[in-house]
Amino acid sequence: MLKHLIDTQDFTKEEILNMIDLGLAIKKSIKHGYYPPLLKNKNLGMIFEQSSTRTRVSFETAMAQLGGHAQYLAPGQIQLGGHETMEDTAKVLSRLVDIIMARVDRHETVANLARCASVPVINGMSDYNHPTQEIGDATTMVEHLPCGKRIEDCKIVFVGDATQVCASTMMMTTKLGMDFVQFGPREKQLSETMLAIGKRNCAESGGSVSVTEDEDTALSGADFVYTDVWYGLYDKELSREERLAIFMPKYQVTAQMMAKAEPHAKFLHCLPATRGEEVTDEVLDAHYSIAFDEAENRLTAMRAILVYLLRDKISESERSAAVKAEVCHALSKVL
Ligand code: CP
Repeated sequence: MLKHLIDTQDFTKEEILNMIDLGLAIKKSIKHGYYPPLLKNKNLGMIFEQSSTRTRVSFETAMAQLGGHAQYLAPGQIQLGGHETMEDTAKVLSRLVDIIMARVDRHETVANLARCASVPVINGMSDYNHPTQEIGDATTMVEHLPCGKRIEDCKIVFVGDATQVCASTMMMTTKLGMDFVQFGPREKQLSETMLAIGKRNCAESGGSVSVTEDEDTALSGADFVYTDVWYGLYDKELSREERLAIFMPKYQVTAQMMAKAEPHAKFLHCLPATRGEEVTDEVLDAHYSIAFDEAENRLTAMRAILVYLLRDKISESERSAAVKAEVCHALSKVL
């Protein structure tokens, strides 16, 4: 069955946990030196309307490691948005590649691509959300759970601006049953519409969602502290002076702020970071910072997402490769 990854809210908690397990199983196999050719002869078309380091490189590496190939379709070098319609672009790419990913300025672009394509489409980030980041981040938290805690027992605080990464973190963590708090200035907090999504998730998962301007309330009992840049990537770009006036110093993640969280608390950042703005060097480079593990797990997530979305096309010989890689149990849960 054709399935896209435009929004993780289209997936159940179980499906997400299975994808995380699959990613971790493939990661382990590769760490032991065996690269399972699960995507042999598969091609990924990657449309980028914006620049990217982690998303582009992790998709390209994931395809190469699993036996496939990725094509970078640079901004301005394909017809999308020019004189070829979205519908035609989607139809043509569906004939030429097995799977498409798109990082877009506007969410409706990637949503329309998915509507018109006959192969899976992955949202590589839009102005609404960042689902591949969500799966990598959830993987990273699973790898760094506090001793004796399950993911659904954990609290995460997102500090700063209600970026699409903040929204995505809220959507993923509430789906997993975690307690999510955004600690940010009132005018930069998640919208009621976003919070309603979180509340619906919590009604099912047992988690909680809230926003606050109170640092002690936000940080108290936190297992994970997450932040993102303070500048909007899309509309209403603020000048540096304007954003510092809104967020500095209260919402900068410092060692003093981290000390208000649990002693075992870990720091996350989707990167790229603006060192000295939303986070200090001391925190980003601290022993409790897992921001670079998080960047590495973009690759863990991409492998799992690609295999998951292309699972119907995995042949018998590729399944044998899964047995060799000892990922058959994780794979059997998604097939
Ligand atoms: N976090 C993230 O998406 O990084 P890139 O913009 O470098 O892809």
